[in-house]
Amino acid sequence: MVSVLFVCLGNICRSPMAEAVLRHQLREEGLEERVRVDSAGTGDWHAGEAPHRGTRTLLADRGISFAGIRARQIEKQDLEDFDYVIVMDHSNYLDVKNLAGREAELHRFVDFIPDTEYKEVPDPYFTGDFEETYRLVEAGCQGIIRTLREKEEL
Ligand code: 4NP
Repeated sequence: MVSVLFVCLGNICRSPMAEAVLRHQLREEGLEERVRVDSAGTGDWHAGEAPHRGTRTLLADRGISFAGIRARQIEKQDLEDFDYVIVMDHSNYLDVKNLAGREAELHRFVDFIPDTEYKEVPDPYFTGDFEETYRLVEAGCQGIIRTLREKEEL
């Protein structure tokens, strides 16, 4: 089974949003059992917490489940356990590289979004704009499913 880990800073806004959205899209296509999806933060401040209210409201409004999602900090072992480690911004990239050592292969979430000028997924914890982040997350998760299909991992 192919596995995907989304990584952001706090693991309460962007990466749990991506976790919930990807799982939702997979379920809609009957592919939920084929992919293991998880998320983690580079920081540990919110460990054990449910997603941020802004993320919860946005997902609930769209009927997307976030049941059971709790924040946790990324561990070195995650880099061996997951096939795709996908970071939300440049600072996440550097932090995970630092944790991982040079050999680890990381992916940037924006690289799965077709025709975007965004270089990072904006952090709604600071921008307050959960909708903007959601639009990118939705398009990127569709891109991830497309990529997995192209690579015949689904
Ligand atoms: P996230 O957003 O990385 O998308 O979960 C943040 C959440 C919390 C904090 C920073 C970013 N924080 O500083 O507590």
